Amino acid sequence: MKVLVVGGGGREHALCWKIAQSSRVDKIYCAPGNAGIAQIAECVDIPAMAFNELAAFAKEKEIDLTVVGMDDPLVGGIVDVFEAAGLRVFGPRKNAAILEGSKAFSKNLMKKYNIPTAAYETFQSPDEAKAYLEGAKYPIVLKADGLALGKGVLICASKEEALAGVDELMTDKKFGDAGNTIVIEEFMTGREVSVLSFVDGSTIKIMSSAQDHKRAKDGDEGLNTGGMGNFSPSPFYTEQVDAFCREHIYQATVDAMKAEGRPFKGVIFFGLMLTQDGPKVLEYNARFGDPEAQVVLPRMKNDIVDVFEACIDGTLDRIDLRFEDNACVCVVLASDGYPLAYEKGFEIKGMENFEGKDGYYLFHAGSKFDSNGRVVTSGGRVLGVTALGSNLKEARANAYAATEWVDFGNKYMRHDIGKAIDEADA
Ligand code: AMP
Ligand code: GLY
Repeated sequence: MKVLVVGGGGREHALCWKIAQSSRVDKIYCAPGNAGIAQIAECVDIPAMAFNELAAFAKEKEIDLTVVGMDDPLVGGIVDVFEAAGLRVFGPRKNAAILEGSKAFSKNLMKKYNIPTAAYETFQSPDEAKAYLEGAKYPIVLKADGLALGKGVLICASKEEALAGVDELMTDKKFGDAGNTIVIEEFMTGREVSVLSFVDGSTIKIMSSAQDHKRAKDGDEGLNTGGMGNFSPSPFYTEQVDAFCREHIYQATVDAMKAEGRPFKGVIFFGLMLTQDGPKVLEYNARFGDPEAQVVLPRMKNDIVDVFEACIDGTLDRIDLRFEDNACVCVVLASDGYPLAYEKGFEIKGMENFEGKDGYYLFHAGSKFDSNGRVVTSGGRVLGVTALGSNLKEARANAYAATEWVDFGNKYMRHDIGKAIDEADA
């Protein structure tokens, strides 16, 4: 089989790596890919948003299966373009990817189908939003309706901050049209868990849980990022939590989408908060998480191509989805300054130290070849240093040891990825 992966970050590197394990796959292409992905796939210089060009490429190369990793092309309707061209593609259509593409849509869906989530209101006018804030309880949460690279969420401690937030999102349009509509919701507290799942329109199969670290700095300080590291499984995702979510959240979401005439095929990523009143949905994503994919896929036992095909064909009920009884930790090596301005173009050294090391993975997120053929940094998140272990503590020690094997200018990381593992023991 020939497979095309769309995207070029750490998630897509992990996807290409997992797809390469399949005995059914002879050749992998990745558009646009990166310097790490180039070791296992042929990188194709077509942007992820050039749907027609990508579909023409897939036709020309007789690609058997396309897997879309990123949110922007999914929300933009890449799957519809591929399907119209008669191509097999894994991911939700545009009318289902809206689950991630519009927070107002997903909140209204949860309300209509009684899926537990924070109380909220939506607003299209800044004046109405501000009037509502006059009588609200603080802290409060403001969310841009559309995609904003995970940065369109403002947690406001006071009315003044919230009023300024409305201006930022709706009037100054910091995230463009994503802020035409905003959601204002109740502030919740609790531990966060990421749960990824495969969905075929009707059946849902849950992958092993993970926990992300969204803030840039140790101690969960600093700005929100795409994710600075994570671990799987989460010790807080107990059997009791799992049972609750299966009863009230997972299948209910799939059934709701079907009932709305928007059957979802692909990956649903449930961002959950474990509150005192039980688990609640913080957000949905319509794709694998990044870096969640880096810690979940190395633990997955199945041939992932079988699972992708079952989702497309509506036969997921026949798949026995299984995970190793071990643990995995990913520490992101970033460019100092991320998520704001940072320098790039520094040579990455020591990548060969990962060769032949079982249970250690160096997933590239922001790397490229320079004109001399050297691998250099090209993004905020540069590498995902990932390691397995028989338990979370061992995996964490292995991952942090491996962060020393590679080096580049302006290398930055958090030193407390997986701190919650110790809290689970306490
Ligand atoms: P989201 O993109 O909706 O997942 O939001 C990004 C982050 O903001 C989440 O991972 C939470 O840490 C935080 N957050 C979002 N909604 C709420 C809420 N209602 N209460 C508290 N924190 C929230
Ligand atoms: N790591 C969070 C995300 O992929 O949205």
